[in-house]
Parts: sequence; structure tokens; C-alpha cells
Amino acid sequence: MVESIHRSTRAEREQWIKEAGFNLFNLKSEYVFVDLLTDSGTGAMSDRQWSEMMLGDESYAGASSFHKFKNAILEITGFEYVLPTHQGRAAENVLFSVLVKEGDFVPGNSHFDTTKGHIEFHKAKAVDCTIDEAFDTTLIHPFKGNVDLAKLEKVLKVNGKKVPFIIITITCNSSGGQPVSIENLKAVRKLADNYGKMIILDSARFAENAYFIKLREEGYQHKTIREIVREVFSYADAITMSAKKDAIVNIGGFIAMREKELLCRASVFEIMYEGFITYGGLAGRDLNAIAQGLYEATEFDYLETRVKQVEYLGNKLLGFGIPIQQPIGGHAIFVDAKRFLTHVRKEEYIAQTLAVNLYIEAGVRGVEIGTLLADRDPVTRENRYPKLELMRLAIPRRVYTNNHMDLVATALKNIWDRRNTIKHGFRIVREAPILRHFTLELERI
Ligand SMILES: Cc1ncc(COP(=O)(O)O)c(C=O)c1O
Repeated sequence: MVESIHRSTRAEREQWIKEAGFNLFNLKSEYVFVDLLTDSGTGAMSDRQWSEMMLGDESYAGASSFHKFKNAILEITGFEYVLPTHQGRAAENVLFSVLVKEGDFVPGNSHFDTTKGHIEFHKAKAVDCTIDEAFDTTLIHPFKGNVDLAKLEKVLKVNGKKVPFIIITITCNSSGGQPVSIENLKAVRKLADNYGKMIILDSARFAENAYFIKLREEGYQHKTIREIVREVFSYADAITMSAKKDAIVNIGGFIAMREKELLCRASVFEIMYEGFITYGGLAGRDLNAIAQGLYEATEFDYLETRVKQVEYLGNKLLGFGIPIQQPIGGHAIFVDAKRFLTHVRKEEYIAQTLAVNLYIEAGVRGVEIGTLLADRDPVTRENRYPKLELMRLAIPRRVYTNNHMDLVATALKNIWDRRNTIKHGFRIVREAPILRHFTLELERI
């Protein structure tokens, strides 16, 4: 599918972003020229996916579309039991409603914001056990999404009884789309077994993770992406999936698991929150498109083209001397805003300031992965200041050309050249009590 995009003037953009409370989520999409807000649900479906949409079986229960969906998931992941959900956070909602209790600790590698949101909603705590190397954007490490085993073991030792499971995000979005190695997954499995814990994989970008394993991990060069994917999933007990990423659909998700007992418990919440267990908030046609998308996303040629486009933009920025998370991740470029805007105080939201500047410069929409996203501590209600202030430029799958990437790079270079003139950011004028970044409003300082 192609669609036209619209140019605008700087004066228009100044006006629109002010009306949007300086929150890029509040902009109308027609006010955006190149939209790198997210790679979630923004991919272009293929001819085969559109054909599958026409074959959707919309029966309430037991539709053939569900069986197509279930079989694709079984073939690709090895998990026998599956519950469809309307998107990734719905999978978290259903599964965590079964597993997470008040006072629990859920260790993992830089939990995604909705994952953390759902854990905190159940009055539990997400404990970040990512390796320290992930927090130095200049450091080259092939698997910056890895879990620090010592940090994880400490949580298991001290709070073992209150750990319902370990969650590992592949690739790790919050640390820069960085992959997790098989070696690390194996070691986490060993620890989990020693303490009798389940492992859940947040699998939104499992195929991109497998691509990096093939490229970077010793012994995997000659394996196919599907073989690697099967091995990765063999270390987990269950997975949550936002199909909006590596199933290349506009909406959808699922939970997949090994044990029927867990399926039965989760089905109760599935029916309450999502719908019957064979459609879970999706139309039959959506289930078909997901099944087809899973096959396409696990082809090496597709993955290479996709990841190389992200790399293309990253290399351009590096060529201009712009600080980004390195090595370049799978789905996005993460600009290190603290090293970009050195005069803006963290209390004035550095990465948000950069994102607003980029929008005004060229109509390019990125997103803040910094203090606004980190939200307030649920107990003290103080701002949490994360180690990194990042502006994420997420590249939709099969949508833009490298010509668009050139425009983005040039726009950012213009800001880089005048970075020392940017001294102030924003203050919050309105915010929601949880997941505030989606809707908050700001004003200029
Ligand atoms: C790693 C990760 N987990 C979970 C989610 C939530 O998925 P959804 O947006 O489909 O609810 C996302 C979405 O961006 C994600 O990146």
C-alpha cells in the first residue's frame, strides 16, 4: 500500500505542535511528513497478506482462521497453546492477571513501558537487570539486550518467593532495539530452573533478534532464521507478542505457551477482557494476516533489507558526528539526547526537547524514550530520571525509502549544527496517573 505524505511550513508546524501541547502523540498524522513515531502497526502488508484478509472466516468460535493462526504459531515458535489478543499489551494484561500479585518482583531486561505499566498496575515491581554496557551508548557490544546474570540472581536470592517469572524482551526496545544472545538465554534458563521460575519472552521483535543472532553469535551463521527462532523459544515457558511488529500487521497480538493448565487459567481473563478464545478481540481476517506475516517476517532476505535500512540512517547520523546508541539496533535509531543537547537540564525533558525540535525542523515525528516515558515512582510520585535520555526514530516496515532517511538525517544535522543555541525545554501542565507520555501536555520554559 502506498499513500501520499504532506509537506508543511515551519510556521504551520510551530502552531500545530503548540496546539498539541508539545506532545507528538497529540498531532494529527496529516501534520507529519515522515512518521517515525513507532514501528508498531505501521508496516505495509504484502500482496499475500491482503489476499489472506479476503479469506477470513468470521465464525464466532472455531473459525478456520484461528486454526491457520494457531498452526503458524506452532510451526514458527513451537508453542502448542495460543490465545489471540487485540495487541501486545492485551496479551500482558491477560497473562499478568493470572501470574502477577501485589508485592511481587518481576525481573527482566529493561521492561517495555506497557509491560512495566501492567506489572505496576498489579502493585508489583519491575526490576531492571540489563547489563551495564547497555547504558553507555558509545560502547560496542553485540548483545546489549542481555540480562546481567549477577543482578538477576540477586533478585532471585533476596526476593525469590515473590518472583512469579522472569521476562526477557527480544529485541530490547527500551535499551535501543538491542538483541539478546542465545548464550544469555541459556544461562537465564539455567538460573530460572535452579529457582523454579518461568521465563516469559516479550517477543514483539523476535525475528529481528534472530537476525542479529545469525550475524553475530558464534555457531549460528549457517542456521536459518526459523531454526534460530525455534531454539530461542525453546528456552521459554510462554511468550507475549505484539503482532504489530514482527508479524507486520496493523493490529493484533497473542500469548503462546507450553502448558495447558496456564491456557485454562488465562482463558478466564481472555474471555472477560478480549473475547472468545479463538478470536480474542480480532477479526478472522486479522488472524489470517498475522499467520502470513509471521512467515514473511522470518525470511532472511526481508530481515536483511529491513535492518539495513535502519543501519543506513544510523550510519548517516554517525557520519555527521551525531551521538546514537551503538551498535545500531533492529527497528530504530536511538539518538543520545544528553550528549546532543548538553545545555538542557534533565528537569526540562531533554529527549522531548530534541523530538519537538526535529518536528519543527522538518515535520519528522520521533518519540521520547526518557524521563516522560519513565513516569513517576508509583509510591513517591517523584519523576524517575532514567540513565539514558533517548529520542527514538522507529522505522516502519516496508514503508519508507532511503530517500526519506536522507531527509531525516539532514534535518537532524541542521539541529546538530545549532545545538548550542537550544538551552531550554518544557514543563508539564497536565498528565495522567499512569503511562502519562501518551497524553500529557507541556509548555515551553
Ligand atoms: C517490546 C514491546 N513489548 C510490548 C509492546 C506492546 O505492544 P502493543 O503496542 O501492541 O500493545 C511493545 C509496543 O511497542 C513493545 O515494543
